[in-house]
Amino acid sequence: MSAEAEWQALERHCNAIRGTHLRQLFADDPARAERFSCEAAGLFLDYSKQRITQETLALLLDLARACDLRRFIDAMFAGEILNTTERRAVLHVALRAPEGEVIRVDGRDVVPEIHATLERMRTFTLQVSTGAWKGYTGRRIRHVINIGIGGSDLGPRMAVRALLPYAEPGLDVRFVANVDPSDFAMAVQGLDPAETLFIVCSKTFTTQETLANARAARAWCVGALGGSSAAVARHFAAVSTNLSAVAEFGIDPQHAFPLWDWVGGRFSLDSAIGLSIMLAIGPPQFELFLGGLRAMDEHFRGAPFEENLPVLLALVGIWNANLLGAGNLAVLPYDEHLALFPAWLQQLEMESNGKSVTRAGTPVRHQTAPIVWGQPGTNGQHAFHQLIHQGTRLVPCDFIGFAKGHSRNHEQHVMLLANLIAQSEALAFGKTPDEVRAEGVAEALVPHKTFEGNRPSNTLLAERLDPFTLGALCALYEHKVAVQGLLWDIDSFDQWGVELGKVLANRVLKELSSEEEPKLAHDGSTNGLVLRLREKR
Ligand code: F6P
Repeated sequence: MSAEAEWQALERHCNAIRGTHLRQLFADDPARAERFSCEAAGLFLDYSKQRITQETLALLLDLARACDLRRFIDAMFAGEILNTTERRAVLHVALRAPEGEVIRVDGRDVVPEIHATLERMRTFTLQVSTGAWKGYTGRRIRHVINIGIGGSDLGPRMAVRALLPYAEPGLDVRFVANVDPSDFAMAVQGLDPAETLFIVCSKTFTTQETLANARAARAWCVGALGGSSAAVARHFAAVSTNLSAVAEFGIDPQHAFPLWDWVGGRFSLDSAIGLSIMLAIGPPQFELFLGGLRAMDEHFRGAPFEENLPVLLALVGIWNANLLGAGNLAVLPYDEHLALFPAWLQQLEMESNGKSVTRAGTPVRHQTAPIVWGQPGTNGQHAFHQLIHQGTRLVPCDFIGFAKGHSRNHEQHVMLLANLIAQSEALAFGKTPDEVRAEGVAEALVPHKTFEGNRPSNTLLAERLDPFTLGALCALYEHKVAVQGLLWDIDSFDQWGVELGKVLANRVLKELSSEEEPKLAHDGSTNGLVLRLREKR
């Protein structure tokens, strides 16, 4: 599927309107803000500050139709094999399907086992939070440490921080991901092993970093609790598709929660991988989180493309990346609780759509995923926003904000919101040389104080960052990524690009750690680096 005619129509159109400034677009159409905004599942999207016209949108929608987007959405929800290189269904939407819905994989309805797992997660969570669950020495659990990396870390870590105002008292939830032993050391600093529970999350249960950290945790815990391996049963739980490896590690199968190969790691935060989220906020709030994801799923599945938030977000992203040539996307949440949202999104967007061959294995004809980056406002305004306003690169931005904050300090929350709004306004409209001169600025400084503007952004607003809203936000971006992958004709659900580094790391590991100091057969640079580290160790 190349949709070549639709891509060419977009290119012709882009050449025709490239010079049109957002100032002009707003002046020409007083209804522009209403025309290019829509709302669903508690999220309001204003995309009127994108450099698009009604014709642009129509052409982008033509592209979506030419790529058979409607059929793709139906196929996803029906459990068809969309991850073609791994021959897998792509069914993260089943994780939040209501009880009673039927979704089949290989002829088997998967919804009952999802709900059975949710029920086990609830029981486990309540045992821990009420203190019914005792550690090996009989003490109650006060600290939970999630051990995992990538999709088995970023989603839960982001969500636990995002939902901190909803946290159950008495349980502190931490995360360890990096194979760097300092990560583990910092996470357990000051903790008592007798009150600490580890959840080892790994879809494959073969990931080097996670297994190394799990072994370190076992040694730390068992060592401190008298050396009995029976302590593992009281201080470890696991989430994986590979339940036999979990048992081999010594974790009681009763405390092992399943995952399925039709859930991609980066799409798994609402599976049992999210057990740490449920432990942090409790089952009822977790249910609301699932409700937000589900509400966005229903919107994505049913809304016409013209009013479909994930589709619109994907289309304006395609316009910016492929037609305007922006190679990146800044995600700027104006909320400290969402500080890790850009990091979660980095894996979601860049691991999913950082591909250069089509599903058929031929080179792609268009740029694929942009580089996603960002951090919360207002901090970024005093660091990198200078480049977004006046640099030479085009940096499309997604601003995310919430009408109500969680603090009682309303005055500062309003300051936060004022900054969010002002940034998107400044980026879009800038300040002309004449406006600068009118302020009496010396002529030599006019170019320095001029803001070109015409820099595109989306603004996403919701009432409050609560579990439902976070769920809707996560599903919004999950579906956006899937739509973009379809339009770029790539498999968004595999990640072969991470394999080579893993294989080479194992080879170098042997070379660095072997007493024999094996002969090196890399290139000159790699050999030199290995030798230097061997000498310095
Ligand atoms: O190496 C990349 C990756 O496979 C991610 O896709 C995944 O989220 C992460 O590693 C962790 O994998 P696992 O959950 O199997 O430990």
